[in-house]
Amino acid sequence: MTVRIVLGAQFGDEAKGKIADFLAASARYVVRSAGGPNTGHTIVLPEGPVVLHQLACGVLRHGVTGVSGPGMVIQPFKLEEELDGLRQRGLLRGEFALSDRAHVVLPIHELEDVWEDELRGRHRPEASLGTTKSGIGPAYADRAGRFGLRVAELSRPAVLRERLELLYATKAHLPNLPPIDELAGRLSEVGARLAPFVRTTEPILWEAISRGENILLEGAQSALLDLDFGTYPYVTSSHPTSAGALVGSGIPPTELDEVIGVAKAYATRVGAGPFPTEDTSERGEYLRRTGGERGATTGRPRRCGWLDLVLLRYVARLNGLTSLAITKVDVLGGLDDVPVCVAYRTPDGREIRDGPPTSADDLARAEPIYESLPAWPEFHARLKERILREGPNALPADLRRFLAFVEEGVGVPVEYVGYGAHRDETVWLGPPSQRRRPAGLAAWSP
Ligand code: GDP
Ligand code: IMO
Ligand code: MG
Repeated sequence: MTVRIVLGAQFGDEAKGKIADFLAASARYVVRSAGGPNTGHTIVLPEGPVVLHQLACGVLRHGVTGVSGPGMVIQPFKLEEELDGLRQRGLLRGEFALSDRAHVVLPIHELEDVWEDELRGRHRPEASLGTTKSGIGPAYADRAGRFGLRVAELSRPAVLRERLELLYATKAHLPNLPPIDELAGRLSEVGARLAPFVRTTEPILWEAISRGENILLEGAQSALLDLDFGTYPYVTSSHPTSAGALVGSGIPPTELDEVIGVAKAYATRVGAGPFPTEDTSERGEYLRRTGGERGATTGRPRRCGWLDLVLLRYVARLNGLTSLAITKVDVLGGLDDVPVCVAYRTPDGREIRDGPPTSADDLARAEPIYESLPAWPEFHARLKERILREGPNALPADLRRFLAFVEEGVGVPVEYVGYGAHRDETVWLGPPSQRRRPAGLAAWSP
């Protein structure tokens, strides 16, 4: 039995969906613990690409259950569309369970999200976060303020009505709210249609663990977008860390075995906020073009830059990473060289290797210090076929040197490498403990 977490180790969109799908092949349950319709996880199946927003990738596999867990905020109308879309394509092959404790994102939260981000922008243009406008911040704020509505309440009309009336009383400042009767009616209807999937999910997971089954927690967003530990205020409103994945699923920390951090061989960010290694030159544009870096949820172009080992070391310690998955290495194939940020220089001339500054403004002023590594050859079809046949030994030597550099710099072994968008284009390098012991905090020098 293994309980594993796959989490984003950069600013989101690291290909968590693809790595989670790879690992879902040996899981009984795949659980989403945080986020909601802001998520876009792409998995390229033989039938074509699928983008999952509120569903865990377990729903795509026979014999696996995808759980949308207690820590999520669920937009029920969009969830229904997502389920219908998969069903119509014949891709809803696993089972689906929706936590009765998950909170509901309402259309009024979406309006409020837009209203709030415009307010920030009017205050100071750079203060606007560039949220996905899917109502995440307001829905989590109402959860914390004890005004929220949970999935369980969707099928209890009297409670639903009362909760909505209280919630509306807090939103008098918002223009164009839908009439409460209409919204209550639509919510009851969608609640009835989703009711067959609604479960109290945590005991189901406890029993699975006691039977020795494998559980995979599919992280959304990323540790650097964490409400407390990310680049506040340019963050999301949940806890996309390993600790957050446990809180949001109801699995006790003592059951956790592995924490896999997913990072691209370079870096991207969508939305506002500090991004020290951002490259706004033609090379950044090359990454965007070659990597297809466009938001899976909003379609916005992603900001592109280089791998940042200062941030990755921080994420490794914060989450207790036991291994790394490095994805999209094919995108860098054929470049002249691969820059990797190994430290920052601060405006007062200090050099930082660990512990990025707490303030987003200070982080934005940090100047990256790069080491330049030799790039590997282009990932043409023949090379991909060889990797598929022969496994990790077929990876180009310069790529192996890059991976060893990352392992050394972060202090965490690389266990998986993604070299293409397709489901089978991930290679397992073997159990990390046979190559290098996972670090653990005791191994970190101050
Ligand atoms: P997630 O949110 O972390 O699951 O990532 P997204 O799905 O938002 O973005 C990752 C993008 O990269 C998607 O378009 C994937 O299809 C694509 N992708 C995933 N892994 C690889 C890879 O190893 N190589 C390439 N070229 N593309 C990949
Ligand atoms: P996946 O799971 C990338 C970013 C938004 C914005 C900030 C706050 O696909 O990696 P929110 O709508 O959450 O209030 O927006 O967080 N953001 C993401 N960026 N990938 C995501 O999800 C993201 N989810 C939120 O762009 O900057
Ligand atoms: Mg994404």
